[in-house]
Amino acid sequence: MKKVYIETYGCQMNVADTEVIFSILSEHGYERTLSIEEADVIMANTCSVRDNAEQRIKGRIEQFNLQRRTRKVTVGILGCMAERMKEEILQTGKVDVVAGPDSYRNLPAMLEAAAEGKPQINVTLSREETYAEISPIRTDKNGVSAFISIMRGCNNVCSYCVVPFTRGAERSRNWRSIVREACECSTGWYKEITLLGQNVDSYCDGDVTFAKLLAIVAEAVPRMRIRFSTSNPQDISDEVLTTMADHPNICRHIHLPVQSGSNRMLEKMRRRYTREWYLARVDRIREILPDCAITTDVIAGFCSETEEDHMETLSLFREVGFDAAYMFYYSERPGTLAARKFKDDVPIEVKTRRLEEIIALQNRLSLESNRKDIGKRFEVLVEGVSRKSDTELCGRNSQNKMCVWADTAHRAGDTVEVEVCDCTQATLLCRLI
Ligand code: SAH
Ligand code: SF4
Ligand code: F3S
Repeated sequence: MKKVYIETYGCQMNVADTEVIFSILSEHGYERTLSIEEADVIMANTCSVRDNAEQRIKGRIEQFNLQRRTRKVTVGILGCMAERMKEEILQTGKVDVVAGPDSYRNLPAMLEAAAEGKPQINVTLSREETYAEISPIRTDKNGVSAFISIMRGCNNVCSYCVVPFTRGAERSRNWRSIVREACECSTGWYKEITLLGQNVDSYCDGDVTFAKLLAIVAEAVPRMRIRFSTSNPQDISDEVLTTMADHPNICRHIHLPVQSGSNRMLEKMRRRYTREWYLARVDRIREILPDCAITTDVIAGFCSETEEDHMETLSLFREVGFDAAYMFYYSERPGTLAARKFKDDVPIEVKTRRLEEIIALQNRLSLESNRKDIGKRFEVLVEGVSRKSDTELCGRNSQNKMCVWADTAHRAGDTVEVEVCDCTQATLLCRLI
């Protein structure tokens, strides 16, 4: 058996892809190793979404190359950065294999040829590939929560975003293979699955919409928790919300990236909704699912963003009171509409200052949201021991909030009931009931 080591960067879709890659390679005489020193093959499954993601990977390629110079080892770059940079990566002479997200079935053949000294590249994107019938080899530490990819690619054209270029056109995986995978997870020790796509609400396989898929999966594995990500504000339907309301095992959490609170920016970003539409969707979520957490993504300092635009983002955050947020400053990506048409003209000091203001506000909002939970009881899925103490466990409630409590009797995969006694901005401090 040859040993393969893979580092995964970027979003959950990449984690799911790495699990597919391990599965494909395991059929061809490879086994996974966690040690880079003993690996015959070293690969990184990469992300291109922001420049700093790519810079980190460039640093890793240098590290991998140290190994490559002292012994016989094959180095591969996979995923979004492979797709975006193509030959440029091979031309560094530091990498043997470059494989885009739709070419993983060819990896065994590519690795074989590369081991004989022939550099390999395959960055062809597909309109059909969904790796539907491949059973992933899970890589999560606790064996409790699994990712299931339900679609690939993206057909939106948000002007700042590189994903449509790196992942290609949107395609949905057939629903039966998704249900089969969910059932496989439930017969193992898995207690939670997350259905993944860049825009899950546009899932469509014949007459199975995303709302139908959610209901089918929730009913096929009734003892499992179901999560999903990512929802797009313009597409999330009432049917999805009522399906959630009808199925208690679908978690009360919606990740609804807003990107900006300013209509002028949203239009320039080519997001297909307005601030008013977004706020109306939030109202609808709260009407149908009163206990649902809402989290978001935001970009500070997009092209031509003014202080007024930025104020609108802050006011939208206050108005919604997000439970949590992923916050970034704008990073121009080559080839995107924004890079071709707009100037990246907000100075870096202004971008970082605006980002810090958003982060400071969100920290207060997260704390406020957590304070409201003091005294409430939640069902929590145990993920493992807490980071701080061996005598404390941690796990998430349905709203995806991290809970910790003193407990030595339970283990990862158990479900327990806790009461919230106190909180920080990031964690609910609980006691076991
Ligand atoms: N499909 C998801 C987002 C995928 S990318 C959606 O539409 O919501 C994850 C997040 O990265 C985005 O929501 C956005 O906030 C951020 N992002 C994407 N491109 C970016 C860029 N060029 N600069 C900074 N942040 C970016
Ligand atoms: Fe990028 Fe927009 Fe697609 Fe999300 S919906 S992946 S932000 S193009
Ligand atoms: Fe990054 Fe590709 Fe995901 S660019 S965010 S790894 S789809």
